[in-house]
Amino acid sequence: MSYNNATIKDVAKAANVSTATVSNVISKVKYVSPELTKRVKKVIKQINYKPSKIARSLKVNKTFYLGLIVPDITNPFFAEVVRGAESVALRENYQIFLCNTDGNVHREEKALKSFYEHHVDGIISVAPRMKEADLEKYFKSIPFVIADRPLNIKNYDANLVYADNIKSSYQLAKHLIKKGHQSFAYIAGPREVLNVQKRIFGFCKGLKDSGFSEEKNVILYGEFNYENGFKLMNKILELKPHPTAVFALSDITAWGALESAKAKGLNIPEDIAIAGFDNVYFSKLLNPSLTTIHQPKYELGRIAVNILIKKLNNMKEGLMEKNEIILESKLILRNST
Ligand code: RIB
Repeated sequence: MSYNNATIKDVAKAANVSTATVSNVISKVKYVSPELTKRVKKVIKQINYKPSKIARSLKVNKTFYLGLIVPDITNPFFAEVVRGAESVALRENYQIFLCNTDGNVHREEKALKSFYEHHVDGIISVAPRMKEADLEKYFKSIPFVIADRPLNIKNYDANLVYADNIKSSYQLAKHLIKKGHQSFAYIAGPREVLNVQKRIFGFCKGLKDSGFSEEKNVILYGEFNYENGFKLMNKILELKPHPTAVFALSDITAWGALESAKAKGLNIPEDIAIAGFDNVYFSKLLNPSLTTIHQPKYELGRIAVNILIKKLNNMKEGLMEKNEIILESKLILRNST
């Protein structure tokens, strides 16, 4: 039996249920028994019923669009977070409305306004750069999840999900000391980014707990990208003597640092050890392979959307007892240290 332009009434009749039951199976807003759900889904497939998105939206007062903002879609870290987010959105019949901001605060604000104009049902902002006070006015008025960034605000209305920045940075410092290093430099991301501050804090604590002072450490700030890694490593290598261990606070930054050191004929790690942060896919393929800190990127995106959809459906069991989920990060030792 196959229909063209089958309606919800056709499905209800063929499955011998009410149209309300068919609607609840599709929207998952109300519980339907597994037996009825299976029967309805079978008929939907058999008669090739395609629910009208507009009709569905009007009925449940939702657009089934989720706004997702990332600072740099060309960075494999954020691309993996988006993949995780989309995996849940598609499963739950939501469409992602993606905006890339290149780390620009005005574009971030523009994206939020555009999400409002398009009546998205909720927003996930990944590594937002807006000031917390400016961000707060948005997350007080629409279901909001912030991924990949802690906040200093307490009792906030947004949910947070991010990976631990401190413990693995601490372990990296200990590892480099064990390797005999006594002089250190950071090629950090933007100074105002909390992830950057916490990674530096963790690494410094590892040095201090091993009897090293932090005064002599070189800290250079700049955007998380290959070009900055290359340029700031050039600066570090002009120092006489130059530090023998460099912590680049993202993998793509570390890639630039690696190429700068190799371009100057240095052997890695013998002449200079280099570590990154993120563990994106290509880092294990570099020569030498990059020591880094693994962040659960796909999980970050997946969990962020899961939380948001549970908030949208006011599913009590889904609402967080606390607003913050901190995922494990992990030190991955390879040949660059
Ligand atoms: O690679 C981009 C970096 O920006 C990641 O470490 C992420 O955590 C964010 O801080």
